[in-house]
Amino acid sequence: MSTQKKLVIGLFGFGVVGEGLYLALNNAIYLDASIKKVCIKDADKQRNAPARLFTTNPDELLDDPEINVIVEVINDTAAAKAIALKAIASGKQLVSASKKLIAENLQELIALHSHHNTSFLYESSVCASIPVIRNLEEYYNNDFLQHLSGIINGSTNFILHKVFEDNLEYADALRLAQDLGFAELDPALDVQGTDALHKLVILLAHAFGIVARPDEILVNGIRNINGYDVRYAKQHQSQIKLVAQAKPLQNGDIAALVLPTLVRNSSPLSFVKEEYNGILIRSSLADEQFFYGKGAGSFPTASAVLSDIAALSYGYKYEYHKLRQQLGNKLADDAILKVYVSHPHNVKLPLTDFRSIQTIHDDPERSYIIGEISYHYLLENDWWQSEHISLLLFEDGITEKKAPAHSQASYYTSHQTV
Ligand SMILES: NC(=O)c1ccc[n+]([C@@H]2O[C@H](COP(=O)([O-])OP(=O)(O)OC[C@H]3O[C@@H](n4cnc5c(N)ncnc54)[C@H](OP(=O)(O)O)[C@@H]3O)[C@@H](O)[C@H]2O)c1
Repeated sequence: MSTQKKLVIGLFGFGVVGEGLYLALNNAIYLDASIKKVCIKDADKQRNAPARLFTTNPDELLDDPEINVIVEVINDTAAAKAIALKAIASGKQLVSASKKLIAENLQELIALHSHHNTSFLYESSVCASIPVIRNLEEYYNNDFLQHLSGIINGSTNFILHKVFEDNLEYADALRLAQDLGFAELDPALDVQGTDALHKLVILLAHAFGIVARPDEILVNGIRNINGYDVRYAKQHQSQIKLVAQAKPLQNGDIAALVLPTLVRNSSPLSFVKEEYNGILIRSSLADEQFFYGKGAGSFPTASAVLSDIAALSYGYKYEYHKLRQQLGNKLADDAILKVYVSHPHNVKLPLTDFRSIQTIHDDPERSYIIGEISYHYLLENDWWQSEHISLLLFEDGITEKKAPAHSQASYYTSHQTV
C-alpha cells in the first residue's frame, strides 16, 4: 500500500530559490505535489508564472486548510520566523532554506515541531545541493564522528579563489563576486563568516547533538587576508580557505569554529574552487568521506528544497538521532589552536597571551608569528580581529589542552602591544 499523500504547497518567496523551485516542481512529474498559492512582498513585480497564484497576504496560505506544506524561501528573517511558527502551530509541514532563521531559533523550532508532531526540513539551508543534513541524520546516526570540516560559504570561497589564483586584491575580488551574483550587495554576512557560522550551528545539531547559539562559537571572516598571507600559503604548499570545523576533544567536548585556514594542497578541501562547497567528514567506521557540490544558486538550491518536499510525501521527519542519544556533548572552550598571525612590522602583538610560540618572523614589509593560543582566549579578546591583523588557523590546528609550554614572549618585552 502506498503511503504517499498529495502535497498542496503554499510557497513564500518567488526570488532566486522560489522561482527555481516553481520551475523544478513543474518538471517533477512523479511527485504528487502542486503549488496552490505563492506569497510575495511586492504585488507589482513582473512574475514568470500565472498572476492568480500570487498574493501578498500570508494568511491566505497559512489559514488555508487544504495547504498542508509551507515552503519558506524569503529573504526576511523576522517575517520568516512568524511564518514558520504559525505554519508549525497550524500542523502544517514546513520546508525552509533560511539558515539564519534556523540557526538563531533552532531550540525553539525543534521543540515546537516535535510538540505539534509535524515535519520541519531544511536540507537547502546548508550547502544547498549537497545532501549533508540527511546523510548526517540517516547514514552516520550510529557512527562516531571524529571530525567535520567544510567550505560552506560559496561567496567567500569565490573571493578567496580570485585573491589566491588570480592575484586580485580583496576589494576587486569582492566586486567581481557581486557582479557575477555570487555575493550580496551587502556582503557582511558572508565575508564576516556569519553565514558559515549559521550553517555550522545547524550541522552541530545533526552531527553531534549540540544545539548551540551562534554567539558561543569562534568566528572570523576573510576581510583581513592580504597578499603577504597568500605568499606565505603558497610557499608552504597551502591555500587559504574559510573553513567551518567541529572536532570532538578527548573529553568528548566539541571544538567548533569558523576561521580562515591554511589548507594543504593535498587536502580534499583545496580542490573546492570558486563558488563551490565541500564537506569532509571523518568517522570511526566510514573513515573519511568528501561531499562536493554547488552551495548556492537557483536550481542547486531548489534541488534540495524539492528533495525535502519529496521526503514529506513519505512522511519523513528528522529524528535528531544524536540529540536523542543524549550523548551529553557540549561545546569545548578549552581547545588549543595552532595559528599564523601576520601584522605590520610596527604593530606589536600581545605575545604573552600565546601559550607557546614556534616562529617569529620579523620583516619590514609585514611580520608574522606562528604559535598556539587558546580557543577561549580568542573568544574573549578581539585584538586579533582588528583591521591590520590577519589570523589563519593551520589545518589540523585544533589540539588538546596541554601543560603550558615555555613562552618566548620575554624576548619581545620591549614591543608595545596592540
Ligand atoms: N540564493 C541562494 O542560492 C540560496 C541558497 C541557500 C539558501 N538560500 C536562502 O533562501 C532564502 C531565499 O533566498 P533567495 O536568494 O531566493 O532570495 P531573493 O532572491 O532575494 O528572493 C526573496 C523573495 O522573498 C520575498 N519576500 C521577502 N519578504 C517577504 C515577506 N515578508 N512575505 C513574502 N515574501 C517575501 C521576495 O518578494 P518580492 O519578489 O516581492 O520582492 C522575494 O520573492 C534566504 O533565506 C536565503 O538565505 C538562498
